[in-house]
Amino acid sequence: MRKLLTAWLIAALSGPSIGAIADPLAPTGRWSAYSAGHAATPPMGWNSWNAFATDIDEDKILGSAQRIVDSGLAAKGYRYINLDDGWALKRRIPDNHMMMRADKFPSARAGGDTPTFKPFTDRLHAMGLKAGIYSDLGRNTCSEAFSGTDTDLPKGSVLEREVGLYGHIDQDIAVYFSEWGFDYIKVDGCGLRDYGPASARVRSGKFRALVPILDSSAVTRTDIPAIQAMFRQINAALVRNNPDGDYLLSLCIWGAANVRTWGKDYGAVSRTSDDISPAWGRLLVNYDSTVTRSLYAHPGSWNDPDMLFIGAGDFDADHLTEARSHFALWSILNAPLMIGADLRKTPPALMDIFGNADVIALNQDPAGNQATLAYDSSDLQILVKTLASGDKALAIFNRSSGDYDVDLHAAHLKYSDSAPVELIDLWSKQRTSFTGKVRLHVRPRETLIFRAHGTRLLQGGYYLSEQPGSVNPAVDGIVHPTADPTIFRTAAGWAGTNGPGDRPVYAGWGGARADSAPYGQMLNIAGRPFAAGIGILANSRLEVRNHGAQRFTAMVGVDDSATDKTHDVTFAVYGDGKLLATSAPLKWGMAARPLSVAVAGVKLIELVARSAGAANERLPVSWADAALMER
Ligand code: GLA
Repeated sequence: MRKLLTAWLIAALSGPSIGAIADPLAPTGRWSAYSAGHAATPPMGWNSWNAFATDIDEDKILGSAQRIVDSGLAAKGYRYINLDDGWALKRRIPDNHMMMRADKFPSARAGGDTPTFKPFTDRLHAMGLKAGIYSDLGRNTCSEAFSGTDTDLPKGSVLEREVGLYGHIDQDIAVYFSEWGFDYIKVDGCGLRDYGPASARVRSGKFRALVPILDSSAVTRTDIPAIQAMFRQINAALVRNNPDGDYLLSLCIWGAANVRTWGKDYGAVSRTSDDISPAWGRLLVNYDSTVTRSLYAHPGSWNDPDMLFIGAGDFDADHLTEARSHFALWSILNAPLMIGADLRKTPPALMDIFGNADVIALNQDPAGNQATLAYDSSDLQILVKTLASGDKALAIFNRSSGDYDVDLHAAHLKYSDSAPVELIDLWSKQRTSFTGKVRLHVRPRETLIFRAHGTRLLQGGYYLSEQPGSVNPAVDGIVHPTADPTIFRTAAGWAGTNGPGDRPVYAGWGGARADSAPYGQMLNIAGRPFAAGIGILANSRLEVRNHGAQRFTAMVGVDDSATDKTHDVTFAVYGDGKLLATSAPLKWGMAARPLSVAVAGVKLIELVARSAGAANERLPVSWADAALMER
């Protein structure tokens, strides 16, 4: 025990949060993932960026909003109409009040000397919609860093052009929410990254230097606690200015700062990668940055692989296969469904994609389970998501340029292979049924998407890996954030083939996984494979919401993928903060041990795997077959 405490104290003192010496593995009896704000299901709506970049005005935005209402998309859940970068004119000196581009938003002139977005948000609210705005953690925004022209950029002196939140969080949030009536804010991060003293824009004299605390290519050069502190301050201001709780915070730091691990604790949606573009390769990057992160998304805190780019490039009306894949994948991953097209001109074939109510229903299912991978390879994947009804959503995704015949097994769906499984194709609405397995054909870049109904393989209960929306890796055991090699790297990025290529940058490798060991292998304990379970590193704590189950069961042990064969791990189960059961200390190579724990009446179960091992990275553990049972 002393050894354990020492190891943990050293880790606490050498980690970024000196001073926070509370035992991170101690049970709290409390669900800790973000549930403030208004995102019980993933937000749906429209955002100006992919359609217009900074070239926005009132007509363009209200035109798309009107089409959302007139086409019936609003009734299907598309609600937020979000301004992105480009709305700001300047910060007024000396009172620092934010000024908007009243020449682009004529209704704002009602505010006289202080133009106001209030008539604009009133108009959206009167249409039954909600309104979103954009800002930056730093002094300046992303377009100020990257725009080729300054036509749409903030104007005036160096200080006037500082339109980001830095140093003004409380004042700006009050203006955006209390004064102007917005309901949603997206907060970008370029201001913390792109204004170093040596940068060309600072040397030009037009911008003040801000020593970068966010480095997209080096998580080690990023001040994570400082960034988290800013998001905490933003959250406090949001609470103050939205007493009814009707607000939404969107984190936009692109998977940098290891945010793929902690974004779920700070905002309703959190970007897992850099910007999408209308290119197949970029879709793969953004999708990959989210697809292995099912356990990091829950009602109230969703992974965000960026907005939809349906309507342009590889996803335009001449590429309906790709456009449908984009929509099906974003839906089954519980991504925000933010349309990025000029809806005044969007053809019916694409409007039909946005309006597919059956696909939307998968995304908006109240259980909030992001799909998990039932079959994984570099060119073909099968994703399954358990719906609140117990039905499954199923996507078969052909990433490649070749045709595939796919054998779909009932077991992929965790359904029995001796009872019929019904499938409804959510594009054609065709119904089929199979028992055991069925062969399906998938064309290049196609995603087949179904709703499935069958008989559960596990009778009388659910595997935890079928309910990632109710499982939160509060501590996932990662001590040294490492780039995730499973994310596709594309030449369709910003630099093209200029420079050294698209190198691995997004941290998160070794995170908690459903039906997989943390580094992607299958779950195995002492040579025994398990098709279901949670893989996580040692020195971790999982929070599990119990929706009325009577019993928790699992087979626990050190996973065969561990390279630390020396240290043992103890598995403990807590119910509402009280210890319910502990395993014997288990080492690599020892057989899986059964745990069976009564949890009747318990609201929050916590699963703690402790070890004195210094390097959790070498000690993956398995909560194999972990399940909540009715009896
Ligand atoms: C960043 C964000 C984008 C968009 C632009 C605006 O690149 O990731 O989504 O908001 O800034 O400049």
